Amino acid sequence: MASIISPRTPAEWEAYYHLRYSVLRQPWGQPAGSERAEDDAAPTTTHALLLAPDGQALGVGRLHPSGPQQGQVRFMAVQAQTQGQGVGRQVLEHLEAAARQQGLTEIVLHAREQAVPFYERLGYTVVAPSHTLFGTVPHFLMRKVVVA
Ligand SMILES: CC(C)(COP(=O)(O)OP(=O)(O)OC[C@H]1O[C@@H](n2cnc3c(N)ncnc32)[C@H](O)[C@@H]1OP(=O)(O)O)[C@@H](O)C(=O)NCCC(=O)NCCS
Repeated sequence: MASIISPRTPAEWEAYYHLRYSVLRQPWGQPAGSERAEDDAAPTTTHALLLAPDGQALGVGRLHPSGPQQGQVRFMAVQAQTQGQGVGRQVLEHLEAAARQQGLTEIVLHAREQAVPFYERLGYTVVAPSHTLFGTVPHFLMRKVVVA
């Protein structure tokens, strides 16, 4: 299986953002650019990208520090035709390993309702309901202790 990289070249960043947009924003009619976050460029933000041999992104996700010893995972997305084949697990486990390397002991995230069983399978537990995105996508705050 291909390994996870951090996007560096313009083509890798384009593939990274294209997947984020097509999975997490375009289906809700959101404008191009809405998939980008200001702190994407922060040196403390870790980006994970799994590329197919043709240069398309198969899976993406990111981690940023969100409190003392706490990290937050955001923008997890797997290409539609590739979902259910272990890519999401590979991306998330990569980010968890990065969190441990950074000395973080807990990861939190806001999961879309349909993704809650995926995160539960990976050891996360629901803390509480959180926001509703675009007026229609309920989210749940989840957490996992990731002490090495
Ligand atoms: C959610 C998402 C990132 C998961 O990635 P994925 O590649 O499809 O998931 P994986 O194949 O790695 O699944 C890992 C494990 O979770 C399980 N799982 C995944 N989705 C599940 C579901 N809806 N219900 C139950 N189990 C599920 C898998 O069976 C697998 O278990 P196994 O390792 O025992 O076989 C991906 O489906 C996706 O991009 N969905 C649309 C966008 C989205 O909701 N992103 C999350 C925003 S918070």
